[in-house]
Amino acid sequence: MTASPGKNLKPAAHAAALACERPAQARCSRRPAAPVRRPGRPAHRAVASRRRSPQAGRPPTCRGSRAASPPEDTIAPDKSVSWAYSEDFLPSDDALLRAADRAAQLGVPAVSPGQGAVLRLVAAALRAGAVAEVGTGTGVSGLWLLRGMAPDGVLTTIDTEAEHQRAAKQTFADAGVRPTRVRTITGRALDVLPRLTDGGYDLVLLDGDPLEAAPTVEHALRLLRPGGVLALAHALHEDRVPDPARRDEVTTALREVARSLRDDDRVVPAMLPAGDGLLLAARV
Ligand SMILES: C[S@@+](CC[C@H](N)C(=O)[O-])C[C@H]1O[C@@H](n2cnc3c(N)ncnc32)[C@H](O)[C@@H]1O
Repeated sequence: MTASPGKNLKPAAHAAALACERPAQARCSRRPAAPVRRPGRPAHRAVASRRRSPQAGRPPTCRGSRAASPPEDTIAPDKSVSWAYSEDFLPSDDALLRAADRAAQLGVPAVSPGQGAVLRLVAAALRAGAVAEVGTGTGVSGLWLLRGMAPDGVLTTIDTEAEHQRAAKQTFADAGVRPTRVRTITGRALDVLPRLTDGGYDLVLLDGDPLEAAPTVEHALRLLRPGGVLALAHALHEDRVPDPARRDEVTTALREVARSLRDDDRVVPAMLPAGDGLLLAARV
Protein backbone atom coordinates (compact mmCIF):
# COMPACT_ATOMS: atom_id res chain seq x y z
CA MET A 1 0.00 0.00 0.00
CA THR A 2 1.16 3.52 -0.63
CA ALA A 3 1.99 5.21 2.63
CA SER A 4 -0.42 7.96 3.49
CA PRO A 5 1.00 11.49 3.76
CA GLY A 6 2.78 12.11 7.01
CA LYS A 7 3.13 8.41 7.85
CA ASN A 8 6.84 8.61 8.59
CA LEU A 9 6.85 11.97 10.31
CA LYS A 10 7.39 12.52 14.03
CA PRO A 11 4.13 13.17 15.96
CA ALA A 12 4.35 16.99 15.94
CA ALA A 13 5.27 17.11 12.27
CA HIS A 14 2.60 14.55 11.52
CA ALA A 15 -0.05 16.66 13.24
CA ALA A 16 1.07 19.72 11.29
CA ALA A 17 1.02 17.76 8.04
CA LEU A 18 -2.46 16.48 8.75
CA ALA A 19 -3.64 20.00 9.54
CA CYS A 20 -2.35 21.17 6.16
CA GLU A 21 -4.08 18.33 4.35
CA ARG A 22 -7.45 18.81 5.99
CA PRO A 23 -10.12 20.89 4.29
CA ALA A 24 -10.39 24.35 5.78
CA GLN A 25 -13.63 23.63 7.62
CA ALA A 26 -11.92 20.89 9.61
CA ARG A 27 -9.15 23.13 10.93
CA CYS A 28 -11.00 24.31 13.97
CA SER A 29 -9.40 26.07 16.89
CA ARG A 30 -11.20 23.88 19.36
CA ARG A 31 -12.97 20.59 19.32
CA PRO A 32 -16.67 20.49 20.11
CA ALA A 33 -17.53 19.65 23.70
CA ALA A 34 -17.35 15.94 24.44
CA PRO A 35 -20.63 14.10 24.96
CA VAL A 36 -21.87 13.75 28.51
CA ARG A 37 -23.78 10.98 30.18
CA ARG A 38 -27.55 11.29 30.23
CA PRO A 39 -29.17 10.43 33.53
CA GLY A 40 -30.88 7.06 33.50
CA ARG A 41 -29.11 5.71 30.42
CA PRO A 42 -29.00 1.93 30.00
CA ALA A 43 -26.16 -0.09 31.50
CA HIS A 44 -23.50 0.22 28.85
CA ARG A 45 -20.29 2.12 29.43
CA ALA A 46 -21.67 5.62 29.25
CA VAL A 47 -19.54 8.64 28.58
CA ALA A 48 -18.62 10.40 31.76
CA SER A 49 -19.72 13.95 32.24
CA ARG A 50 -17.04 16.55 32.45
CA ARG A 51 -16.77 20.08 33.75
CA ARG A 52 -17.03 22.51 30.89
CA SER A 53 -14.90 25.56 30.35
CA PRO A 54 -16.44 29.00 29.82
CA GLN A 55 -15.68 28.44 26.12
CA ALA A 56 -17.54 25.15 26.04
CA GLY A 57 -20.96 26.54 25.12
CA ARG A 58 -19.66 28.18 21.97
CA PRO A 59 -19.41 26.48 18.62
CA PRO A 60 -15.93 25.61 17.38
CA THR A 61 -14.34 28.52 15.58
CA CYS A 62 -12.50 28.16 12.30
CA ARG A 63 -10.43 30.80 10.66
CA GLY A 64 -9.76 31.52 7.02
CA SER A 65 -12.85 29.96 5.45
CA ARG A 66 -16.37 31.22 5.03
CA ALA A 67 -17.52 27.64 4.48
CA ALA A 68 -15.97 26.79 7.83
CA SER A 69 -17.97 29.37 9.75
CA PRO A 70 -21.66 28.55 9.74
CA PRO A 71 -23.93 30.88 11.68
CA GLU A 72 -23.61 30.22 15.40
CA ASP A 73 -27.26 29.28 15.78
CA THR A 74 -26.87 26.33 13.38
CA ILE A 75 -24.54 24.45 15.76
CA ALA A 76 -25.87 22.78 18.90
CA PRO A 77 -23.80 24.11 21.79
CA ASP A 78 -23.73 20.72 23.45
CA LYS A 79 -22.74 17.71 21.33
CA SER A 80 -24.22 15.36 23.93
CA VAL A 81 -27.65 15.98 22.38
CA SER A 82 -26.48 14.60 19.04
CA TRP A 83 -24.63 11.79 20.79
CA ALA A 84 -27.74 10.73 22.72
CA TYR A 85 -29.87 10.98 19.58
CA SER A 86 -27.39 8.78 17.71
CA GLU A 87 -27.30 6.23 20.52
CA ASP A 88 -31.10 5.98 20.52
CA PHE A 89 -31.43 6.20 16.74
CA LEU A 90 -32.42 2.55 16.32
CA PRO A 91 -35.20 1.00 18.40
CA SER A 92 -34.12 -1.69 20.83
CA ASP A 93 -35.94 -4.99 21.35
CA ASP A 94 -36.58 -7.50 24.10
CA ALA A 95 -33.58 -9.71 23.36
CA LEU A 96 -31.14 -6.78 23.46
CA LEU A 97 -32.77 -5.28 26.56
CA ARG A 98 -32.62 -8.61 28.40
CA ALA A 99 -28.98 -9.05 27.37
CA ALA A 100 -28.20 -5.56 28.70
CA ASP A 101 -29.97 -6.44 31.98
CA ARG A 102 -27.85 -9.59 32.31
CA ALA A 103 -24.76 -7.50 31.63
CA ALA A 104 -25.74 -5.07 34.39
CA GLN A 105 -26.38 -7.95 36.82
CA LEU A 106 -23.00 -9.52 36.09
CA GLY A 107 -21.18 -6.19 36.03
CA VAL A 108 -20.12 -6.62 32.40
CA PRO A 109 -19.84 -3.40 30.38
CA ALA A 110 -21.63 -4.21 27.12
CA VAL A 111 -21.30 -2.24 23.91
CA SER A 112 -23.69 0.71 23.66
CA PRO A 113 -26.60 0.75 21.17
CA GLY A 114 -24.63 3.18 18.99
CA GLN A 115 -21.62 0.89 18.92
CA GLY A 116 -23.84 -2.11 18.28
CA ALA A 117 -25.54 -0.38 15.37
CA VAL A 118 -22.18 0.36 13.74
CA LEU A 119 -21.00 -3.22 14.27
CA ARG A 120 -24.16 -4.57 12.68
CA LEU A 121 -23.76 -2.18 9.75
CA VAL A 122 -20.13 -3.19 9.16
CA ALA A 123 -21.01 -6.89 9.35
CA ALA A 124 -23.80 -6.31 6.82
CA ALA A 125 -21.63 -4.23 4.48
CA LEU A 126 -19.01 -6.97 4.50
CA ARG A 127 -21.67 -9.69 4.14
CA ALA A 128 -19.64 -11.24 6.90
CA GLY A 129 -19.62 -15.01 7.00
CA ALA A 130 -16.95 -15.37 9.67
CA VAL A 131 -16.57 -13.01 12.62
CA ALA A 132 -14.30 -13.41 15.63
CA GLU A 133 -15.00 -11.66 18.90
CA VAL A 134 -12.86 -11.31 22.02
CA GLY A 135 -15.08 -10.64 25.04
CA THR A 136 -18.39 -12.49 24.69
CA GLY A 137 -19.87 -10.85 27.76
CA THR A 138 -23.60 -11.50 27.86
CA GLY A 139 -23.89 -11.43 24.09
CA VAL A 140 -24.93 -7.83 23.43
CA SER A 141 -22.23 -7.20 20.83
CA GLY A 142 -22.58 -10.76 19.53
CA LEU A 143 -26.27 -10.29 18.84
CA TRP A 144 -25.69 -7.03 16.97
CA LEU A 145 -22.99 -8.75 14.89
CA LEU A 146 -25.10 -11.83 14.14
CA ARG A 147 -27.95 -9.62 12.96
CA GLY A 148 -25.68 -7.96 10.39
CA MET A 149 -23.84 -11.07 9.22
CA ALA A 150 -24.83 -13.37 6.36
CA PRO A 151 -27.72 -15.66 7.40
CA ASP A 152 -25.42 -18.67 7.67
CA GLY A 153 -22.46 -16.68 9.06
CA VAL A 154 -20.68 -18.01 12.14
CA LEU A 155 -19.57 -15.93 15.13
CA THR A 156 -16.55 -17.29 17.00
CA THR A 157 -16.59 -15.70 20.44
CA ILE A 158 -13.97 -15.97 23.16
CA ASP A 159 -14.24 -15.20 26.86
CA THR A 160 -12.44 -16.28 30.02
CA GLU A 161 -15.73 -16.47 31.96
CA ALA A 162 -18.01 -19.45 31.34
CA GLU A 163 -20.75 -17.70 33.33
CA HIS A 164 -20.76 -14.80 30.90
CA GLN A 165 -20.91 -17.18 27.97
CA ARG A 166 -23.89 -19.01 29.50
CA ALA A 167 -25.67 -15.66 29.70
CA ALA A 168 -24.72 -14.96 26.08
CA LYS A 169 -26.15 -18.30 24.96
CA GLN A 170 -29.42 -17.30 26.63
CA THR A 171 -29.30 -13.99 24.73
CA PHE A 172 -28.82 -15.76 21.40
CA ALA A 173 -31.58 -18.27 22.20
CA ASP A 174 -33.96 -15.43 23.16
CA ALA A 175 -33.29 -13.84 19.79
CA GLY A 176 -33.88 -17.09 17.87
CA VAL A 177 -30.27 -17.45 16.71
CA ARG A 178 -29.52 -21.02 15.57
CA PRO A 179 -26.88 -22.57 17.88
CA THR A 180 -24.79 -23.61 14.85
CA ARG A 181 -24.15 -19.94 14.13
CA VAL A 182 -22.15 -19.40 17.31
CA ARG A 183 -18.87 -21.07 18.26
CA THR A 184 -18.15 -20.30 21.89
CA ILE A 185 -14.61 -20.78 23.17
CA THR A 186 -13.80 -20.39 26.86
CA GLY A 187 -10.25 -19.19 27.40
CA ARG A 188 -7.84 -16.28 27.35
CA ALA A 189 -7.72 -14.39 24.08
CA LEU A 190 -3.96 -14.67 23.81
CA ASP A 191 -4.17 -18.45 24.17
CA VAL A 192 -7.07 -18.94 21.76
CA LEU A 193 -6.38 -16.42 18.97
CA PRO A 194 -3.17 -18.16 17.79
CA ARG A 195 -5.31 -21.24 17.02
CA LEU A 196 -7.66 -19.35 14.64
CA THR A 197 -7.07 -19.36 10.88
CA ASP A 198 -4.97 -16.65 9.22
CA GLY A 199 -7.03 -14.50 6.84
CA GLY A 200 -10.15 -16.49 7.71
CA TYR A 201 -12.29 -13.68 9.16
CA ASP A 202 -14.25 -10.78 7.71
CA LEU A 203 -14.52 -8.90 10.98
CA VAL A 204 -12.79 -9.11 14.36
CA LEU A 205 -14.21 -7.33 17.40
CA LEU A 206 -11.89 -6.77 20.35
CA ASP A 207 -13.74 -6.14 23.61
CA GLY A 208 -11.78 -8.12 26.18
CA ASP A 209 -8.94 -7.02 28.44
CA PRO A 210 -7.86 -3.54 27.31
CA LEU A 211 -4.38 -4.14 28.73
CA GLU A 212 -3.99 -6.89 26.11
CA ALA A 213 -5.27 -4.68 23.30
CA ALA A 214 -1.88 -4.31 21.57
CA PRO A 215 -1.08 -8.04 21.18
CA THR A 216 -4.71 -8.89 20.37
CA VAL A 217 -4.70 -6.25 17.62
CA GLU A 218 -1.70 -8.02 16.09
CA HIS A 219 -3.59 -11.32 16.12
CA ALA A 220 -6.68 -9.64 14.68
CA LEU A 221 -4.67 -8.22 11.77
CA ARG A 222 -3.38 -11.71 11.05
CA LEU A 223 -6.89 -13.20 11.15
CA LEU A 224 -8.48 -10.64 8.83
CA ARG A 225 -8.79 -11.17 5.10
CA PRO A 226 -7.90 -8.17 2.93
CA GLY A 227 -10.79 -5.72 3.22
CA GLY A 228 -11.81 -7.19 6.56
CA VAL A 229 -12.40 -4.87 9.48
CA LEU A 230 -10.96 -4.71 12.99
CA ALA A 231 -13.18 -3.07 15.62
CA LEU A 232 -11.94 -2.07 19.07
CA ALA A 233 -14.82 -1.30 21.47
CA HIS A 234 -14.62 1.29 24.28
CA ALA A 235 -11.65 2.83 22.49
CA LEU A 236 -12.10 6.26 24.13
CA HIS A 237 -12.49 4.70 27.59
CA GLU A 238 -15.12 7.06 29.00
CA ASP A 239 -13.48 10.17 27.53
CA ARG A 240 -10.14 9.44 29.18
CA VAL A 241 -8.17 8.64 26.02
CA PRO A 242 -8.46 12.14 24.49
CA ASP A 243 -7.49 13.74 27.80
CA PRO A 244 -3.68 13.95 28.07
CA ALA A 245 -3.95 14.41 31.84
CA ARG A 246 -5.25 10.84 32.14
CA ARG A 247 -2.31 8.49 32.42
CA ASP A 248 -3.71 5.39 34.08
CA GLU A 249 -2.65 2.03 32.70
CA VAL A 250 -5.79 1.24 30.68
CA THR A 251 -6.06 4.73 29.19
CA THR A 252 -2.39 4.73 28.23
CA ALA A 253 -2.67 1.28 26.64
CA LEU A 254 -5.73 2.27 24.59
CA ARG A 255 -4.17 5.58 23.57
CA GLU A 256 -1.05 3.78 22.41
CA VAL A 257 -3.04 1.22 20.40
CA ALA A 258 -5.06 3.99 18.74
CA ARG A 259 -1.88 5.88 17.84
CA SER A 260 -0.24 2.77 16.49
CA LEU A 261 -3.24 1.81 14.31
CA ARG A 262 -3.52 5.39 13.06
CA ASP A 263 0.05 5.17 11.77
CA ASP A 264 -0.10 1.59 10.52
CA ASP A 265 0.18 1.12 6.76
CA ARG A 266 -1.63 -2.22 6.99
CA VAL A 267 -4.96 -0.59 7.81
CA VAL A 268 -7.29 2.31 7.00
CA PRO A 269 -8.43 3.50 10.45
CA ALA A 270 -11.21 5.70 11.82
CA MET A 271 -12.16 6.63 15.38
CA LEU A 272 -15.92 6.92 15.90
CA PRO A 273 -17.43 8.58 19.00
CA ALA A 274 -20.22 5.96 19.26
CA GLY A 275 -20.71 4.84 22.84
CA ASP A 276 -17.38 5.45 24.53
CA GLY A 277 -15.47 5.09 21.30
CA LEU A 278 -15.28 2.56 18.51
CA LEU A 279 -12.01 2.32 16.64
CA LEU A 280 -12.40 0.74 13.21
CA ALA A 281 -9.57 -0.28 10.91
CA ALA A 282 -10.00 -1.91 7.51
CA ARG A 283 -7.25 -4.38 6.57
CA VAL A 284 -5.54 -3.33 3.36
C1 LIG B 1 -16.45 -5.46 28.00
S1 LIG B 1 -16.94 -7.10 28.34
C2 LIG B 1 -17.53 -7.68 26.79
C3 LIG B 1 -18.91 -7.22 26.48
C4 LIG B 1 -19.49 -7.83 25.23
N1 LIG B 1 -18.63 -7.61 24.09
C5 LIG B 1 -20.85 -7.25 24.98
O1 LIG B 1 -20.97 -6.18 24.39
O2 LIG B 1 -21.83 -7.85 25.43
C6 LIG B 1 -15.37 -7.87 28.47
C7 LIG B 1 -15.41 -9.37 28.51
O3 LIG B 1 -14.09 -9.83 28.26
C8 LIG B 1 -13.81 -10.93 29.08
N2 LIG B 1 -12.34 -10.99 29.22
C9 LIG B 1 -11.55 -10.28 30.05
N3 LIG B 1 -10.26 -10.60 29.84
C10 LIG B 1 -10.24 -11.49 28.84
C11 LIG B 1 -9.21 -12.19 28.16
N4 LIG B 1 -7.92 -12.01 28.48
N5 LIG B 1 -9.53 -13.06 27.18
C12 LIG B 1 -10.84 -13.24 26.85
N6 LIG B 1 -11.87 -12.61 27.45
C13 LIG B 1 -11.57 -11.75 28.44
C14 LIG B 1 -14.57 -10.65 30.36
O4 LIG B 1 -14.84 -11.85 31.06
C15 LIG B 1 -15.83 -9.96 29.85
O5 LIG B 1 -16.88 -10.88 29.66
